[in-house]
Amino acid sequence: MLKRFWLWLGRLLGRLIATLAVLGLLGWGLGSLYYAWKFSGPVSTEEQIPAGEAELTRSIIEDAVRVVEQHRDNTRVLRDAHAKAHGCVRAEVSVASELPQTLRQGVFQEPGKTWQAWVRFSNGNAYPQFDRARDARGMAIKLLDVPGQPLMTGPGGQSQQDFVMFNNTAFFVRDVAEYKSNFAAQADGKKVLAFFPSWDPRTWEVRHLLIALQTLSPAPESPVQTTYNSIAPFKFGPHNIKYRVIPATGSCPGYQAQEQNRDLPNFLRNALYQQLSLDRVPACFELQVQRQNPEHYMPIEDPSVEWDESISPFETVASIKVAAQDFDSTEQNRFCDDLSFNPWHALPEHRPIGGINRLRKAVYEAVSAYRHERNAAR
Ligand code: HEM
Repeated sequence: MLKRFWLWLGRLLGRLIATLAVLGLLGWGLGSLYYAWKFSGPVSTEEQIPAGEAELTRSIIEDAVRVVEQHRDNTRVLRDAHAKAHGCVRAEVSVASELPQTLRQGVFQEPGKTWQAWVRFSNGNAYPQFDRARDARGMAIKLLDVPGQPLMTGPGGQSQQDFVMFNNTAFFVRDVAEYKSNFAAQADGKKVLAFFPSWDPRTWEVRHLLIALQTLSPAPESPVQTTYNSIAPFKFGPHNIKYRVIPATGSCPGYQAQEQNRDLPNFLRNALYQQLSLDRVPACFELQVQRQNPEHYMPIEDPSVEWDESISPFETVASIKVAAQDFDSTEQNRFCDDLSFNPWHALPEHRPIGGINRLRKAVYEAVSAYRHERNAAR
């Protein structure tokens, strides 16, 4: 009797697993077909600004300032995002000496030219948490003494060219409207549910949830051992591009990073300090651009879609050298905190494009101004 029961249960489970596998495969097949249809070119090479974007942006600024105040906790007022720095380091950005004519744009006009720069490495969270927490890791580069009239000047009125990236390849929302509703839901304590705004399955953003989960990744061995992406698109003279910064181990002396104690709160700063200040070994990167091919699905208004590298490969336009140096002093850390990076600190040739970048223009400026004002008053 018992034996027959087990056999029956075994058959039932077997059928259940087979049915689930078939359903899974069917779902995967249908999903792939749907995305192949939805994500097919051609796409526009121009920006398309939806109605109501400016109004949504204003209310996002108010939310952002509220977050800054929430995380203050009797300290200086920190950034609303990427609050924790692993260090600001000096770097040299050299334009590739054999750059094709069509890529000689803006600050990359003169092959071989070297720009002095600041680079700030960060964790993505608004709260300066332990480095072992899953998070995005940021890299922001500021080229100094850039001639020409930028779209927006830095706080001191200086002319700079900034590149602001983090180490995932896609953004977890499509546009300003989705950013607003997702941010509001997150502020209400909803995490996963922020991607399911209603009972209507058409509003579910499963793909964006997966991107968000992927963005919150374990820390790399060191801030100089991961690839950072612009994620959002930019102009590059006549081209529309995305850019990225990738470690270039071949250009620097070989370096085997020491394993860090991941229980220490700031082990990413420790790794940077170990390499640059104790072992005195430089770190090297390449700055690369990926041109939009509008015949394929490489949209401007949706940074949740990665542009396919097999269709449009990245091309190196400059090398970045972070020389051995001492960077971890109270003065330099304070200076670093006071810097403002903004994708709109840019020459017109490198103008940020797309909804998320339009949103960033107003938000970065407002949050930076707010925190500088509050810190000056302390
Ligand atoms: C493509 C998408 C994005 C990337 C790659 C990105 C990356 C970064 C990075 C690396 C920083 C730190 C810069 C530094 O070291 O000072 C930063 C700061 C910041 N981000 Fe983003 N971000 C993105 C989108 C957004 C969006 C959509 C918002 C909000 C609307 C936002 C709000 C901010 C704010 C307020 C700061 C601090 C600005 C300051 O106080 O100086 N970011 N972001």
